[in-house]
Amino acid sequence: MSLQSTNPTETPIWEKLTQHYTNSQAEKVKDLFASDPSRAEKFTLKWNDFLVDFSKNRITEETMELLLQLAEEVNLAEAIKKQFDGDLINQTEGRAVLHTALRAKKSDTILVDGKNVVEEVYQVKEHIKAFTDNVISGTATGYTGKAFTDVVNIGIGGSDLGPAMVVEALKFYKNHLKLHFVSNVDGDHVNEVLKDLDPETTLFVVVSKTFTTQETLSNATTIKKWFLKHGRQEDIAKHFAAVSTNTEAIAEFGIAAENVFPMWDWVGGRFSLWSAVGLSIALAVGFDHFDELLSGANEMDEHFKNTDFKDNIPVVLALLSVWYNNFYGAETEAIIPYAQYLSRFSAYLQQGIMESNGKSVDRNGKRVGYETGTIIWGEPGTNSQHAFFQLIHQGTKIIPVDFIGYKKSLHGDVDHHNKLMANFFAQTEALMNGKTEEQVREELESKGMSENEMEKLSPFKVFEGNKPTNTILIDQLTPKSLGSLIALYEHKIFVQGVIWNIFSYDQWGVELGKQLAGTILKDIQGSEIADHDGSTLQLLRYFKS
Ligand code: F6P
Repeated sequence: MSLQSTNPTETPIWEKLTQHYTNSQAEKVKDLFASDPSRAEKFTLKWNDFLVDFSKNRITEETMELLLQLAEEVNLAEAIKKQFDGDLINQTEGRAVLHTALRAKKSDTILVDGKNVVEEVYQVKEHIKAFTDNVISGTATGYTGKAFTDVVNIGIGGSDLGPAMVVEALKFYKNHLKLHFVSNVDGDHVNEVLKDLDPETTLFVVVSKTFTTQETLSNATTIKKWFLKHGRQEDIAKHFAAVSTNTEAIAEFGIAAENVFPMWDWVGGRFSLWSAVGLSIALAVGFDHFDELLSGANEMDEHFKNTDFKDNIPVVLALLSVWYNNFYGAETEAIIPYAQYLSRFSAYLQQGIMESNGKSVDRNGKRVGYETGTIIWGEPGTNSQHAFFQLIHQGTKIIPVDFIGYKKSLHGDVDHHNKLMANFFAQTEALMNGKTEEQVREELESKGMSENEMEKLSPFKVFEGNKPTNTILIDQLTPKSLGSLIALYEHKIFVQGVIWNIFSYDQWGVELGKQLAGTILKDIQGSEIADHDGSTLQLLRYFKS
């Protein structure tokens, strides 16, 4: 069954939200705190080892009530059920959306075309376990009998970003294998990675859902050629593995059947790290940690599926995002983990969020008349404080920020962690409270500044404040809590897509550029240049000259 189609702006609640925005947007969050001692508690969700404090947002209880009604009016509950049940909610591709099945419990039953996909998922998990155990233990060896020391993941987009982000995030749990990622078709990428590798001890994992992606096939072919300068054709069986739905193309590439891991068309690329696409994760940290990642995601799935919307973390965060995107006109959202291990987290979410919800046509095929997908960006704190926080504090734009931090560090150095977290808390406090002119003048006066100098300087030192933030405070960065965190954002994406009445699980917008690149490659390689606009023609001529 397909998803219900409701234009959110035509629901009665949208009008109420618009009015509510007009009436409340001048309110200062710090005043709301002053008038309500229980505000922090009221707008905090506690779940497992997560605490989500969303009290520093420009909201009141009424705002949340209205937003929750919006979720009811677009029938979010039914949409969630359809997704988990395996309905063909990716309508433009005629597919179910079941990344949740990849982390389901063994006893679960999820039917696709009458077949329980959980059984297949667990067969592949067994295969991942056996394969990765052998590589890690040194039982599987390269063509000269040496144990593997290095693994190269060859993939792009969802076949790269998820594994690369998680391998970095779980570095603390890593074993001896060194992981490398080759994604860009720019030859510098593959050549730089190959420079440090020994063909006798390197395992290559080619990951491509379609096995047609230009970048991945070019990189895999370059690597195969490099490998064959050292090993023989039959040695490929020991050194190459592949993950794809396209098993025929893998066979053509020459990868041994026992090293082939299937994928399913009900898993979107950007939601696929839970499948064999995560092979390099399991290689880096061992299967048990990979499985813990999956179980953390499964717990978030259960929370999302079974919790009242008002206490439902992905739903609440999605509604807040809609509040800023559609009523405050916020164009972007920053995601700032105070964890160096999460340095690839925002880049990973850029694909998840922007490829999913960067759509301008609704579920009826009509141009939407409202804003959809937010622009996502971010870097870890505290580095980001010394880079772009100036604009968040004193710029003209409203930028809601998610702050993600951990109660306990993994390294155990209390001094470092306390300093990191002092910054973490200070930033959200500063963003909300700001600094008034009066406070600025007091401060300057205490430093002995003259009235004249104060007059000149104080406007620049004022912070308007009232900048919205969410604080996600987790006990510790473990495979399990990371799984829950990633799944939280996955579900947030879906909720927003449901509200905006768009299809979150297709990505037609990446096709045109790919098609044109194919034509232009012929122009570059051939003697003639086909017809193009004046600018492209000029650039191609110049490039070829
Ligand atoms: O960029 C478009 C896209 O299709 C992504 O959705 C996907 O993650 C990526 O390309 C890689 O695709 P594949 O895994 O099929 O090589």
